[in-house]
Formats: sequence, C-alpha cells, structure tokens
Amino acid sequence: MELLTGAGLWSVAIFTVIFILLVDLMHRHQRWTSRYPPGPVPWPVLGNLLQVDLDNMPYSLYKLQNRYGDVFSLQMGWKPMVVINGLKAMKEVLLTCGEDTADRPQVPIFEYLGVKPGSQGVVLAPYGPEWREQRRFSVSTLRNFGLGKKSLEDWVTKEARHLCDAFTAQAGQPINPNTMLNNAVCNVIASLIFARRFEYEDPYLIRMQKVLEDSLTEISGLIPEGSILIPNMSSVLKDETVWEKPLRFHPEHFLDAQGHFVKPEAFMPFSAGRRSCLGEPLARMELFLFFTCLLQHFSFSVPNGQPRPRNLGVFPFPVAPYPYQLCAVMREQGH
Ligand SMILES: *[C@@H]1O[C@H](CO)[C@@H](O)[C@H](O)[C@H]1NC(C)=O
Repeated sequence: MELLTGAGLWSVAIFTVIFILLVDLMHRHQRWTSRYPPGPVPWPVLGNLLQVDLDNMPYSLYKLQNRYGDVFSLQMGWKPMVVINGLKAMKEVLLTCGEDTADRPQVPIFEYLGVKPGSQGVVLAPYGPEWREQRRFSVSTLRNFGLGKKSLEDWVTKEARHLCDAFTAQAGQPINPNTMLNNAVCNVIASLIFARRFEYEDPYLIRMQKVLEDSLTEISGLIPEGSILIPNMSSVLKDETVWEKPLRFHPEHFLDAQGHFVKPEAFMPFSAGRRSCLGEPLARMELFLFFTCLLQHFSFSVPNGQPRPRNLGVFPFPVAPYPYQLCAVMREQGH
C-alpha cells in the first residue's frame, strides 16, 4: 500500500485549502448580494474574529462604532452580525422595521443548554403565530394577577418590607446589596408561580436565582435575512445627541420647562417594539415600591475608603452593575 508521500501530501493540502476558500466564497456571496452596513473586511474562514478582543467585546465594538458609524456589520466566523447604536437607528430597527426584526436565531449553545424548539419560552422563541399566542397569554396573565384576591401589588409591598428588614439587620455596615435585591425580585416571581415566598437564606431561592440569571440571556433578532442583530440599548440610554447629561443622574431629563413629568423617547430600558420586555409593568411596580420603602427607612452612603459605584456595568447580557459596597443607615423616626 502506498502511503502519502511528499508530493501527494502537498496536493491534499492544496486541495483542502482551495475547498475551504470556495466554501468561504459562497458565504461571502451572501454578504455581497445583500446590502450590508459597513464594517471591517473579514478574513477567510475566521471572519473578524482576530479583529475583536473577545475578552473585552464592549470596547472592541465601541472602537468599531467610532470608525464605521452607528450601524456596522461584523462577521464572527461565517456568522454575519449587525450592531445597532443610538436612538435614531434603534427606532428604525425596532419600531419602523419591527416586523422584520422580531425573530430570534437558533443559537447552538441554547440547544445545548436544553432550550429546544417548543421549550424556548416567550423570550427565545422565533417570531410567529406560536410566539404571538404565548406573548398575548403572558401579558394578559400578568395583568389579571393584579385583579385577583391577593394582588401582585400586595405581594410586592410585603416583599419590600422583608427587603427593608434585611437591610436593617446590616444597618451601618458596608454591604453589597446585590444579593438582597435579587432575592426580593426572585420572591416576587415565586409569588406568581408558587403563591409563596422564601426566606433569603433558603437554598431553593438561591438556586432559583441562578436559573433566572441564566435564562435572562437574550441576544438578538435578524437584519438582512439570516444575520444576527445586536441592539446596544445602553448606547440609546446614554446617547449624547439626546440627553443633556448622558452619564449623570439628572432628574431634569424627565421634566419639561414647567416641571411636569415627561417620558423621553430615548428612555427605553425595557427595549421597544414587539419584543420589548413584557415584565415592564411588574418591574416598574417593584422599582417604585422597593425604592420608596428603602429610601424612607435608610440614608445611603459610600463606606469610608470605598470607591464610588462605577458607571460601567459587567458584560454580557443582561448588563449587571459592577460590584460595589454601600452603607445603609437607619433614618431617625419621624423624618
Ligand atoms: C454600547 O454603547 C455604549 C455607549 O455608547 C458603549 O460604551 C459600549 O461599548 C457599547 N457596547 C456594545 C456591546 O456595543
């Protein structure tokens, strides 16, 4: 039997390279035929993988945005992606073209994690009649909870009290409030699902939190057929062309000249369009009740020697606050 010798090996190698380049050409064809936003030129096979820093995606994408504009394309391997920044582009993509961008891709990692067709829930399911049906059901179920014997608002108010108790137990000490806040949010969901709450130390609650964190990973839709869309919501919430002080807590952003409340168009922390967060009313109720309860009972400060909380969050999805410490000091009675 003749083994592959020098010349034979070379022809196999050359054939393989030509074959890979041909396959690559077929993928590129798709890019040439659809009108793609500008972006860095992809390498054969690897695409733009070498041009971005996978450990610091937000910064890489930010540099590309400065170079190619608010809407740019990128190729991860053979998978085309389009990144959207700023209010103007976001409105066009999520609202004007909402119908075309409401789909969700089949991401292999989700299938690996057990998210298969039929079990994607309303967040990851492809856009279609089944998704519409589920979404309608979820929205009306959430709304009707407010009408039952024990309304959702009662649950949230009760949980706010437990949250305040947990803060009281650690009053005056430097703490990272993240876990307590997450526990409270989880308990509201537990009240919806199981009609009960859990103590903050309950291992079951801790496990549920982990599952929720994992399932909140939502990424994208579709722009030219088949490409993954990455809407950068924080670029809208910090859009310099819209906000007077994009990086500050500035209540005047939400007041008109007469001091009346206004909701600016660029305020879309729950996204916008068909896929906007369906838990928005619940989340707003929790924000209002938890924070009023906390602010009535405590004054908050940065502990001595600790840095101020950072503006930047921790990637990836959803963006979480960078860990920080605070001190909750009980307010005096009667104030
Ligand atoms: C999103 O936009 C913000 C603000 O412009 C920027 O700092 C960040 O790097 C961007 N992130 C991504 C993932 O593009």
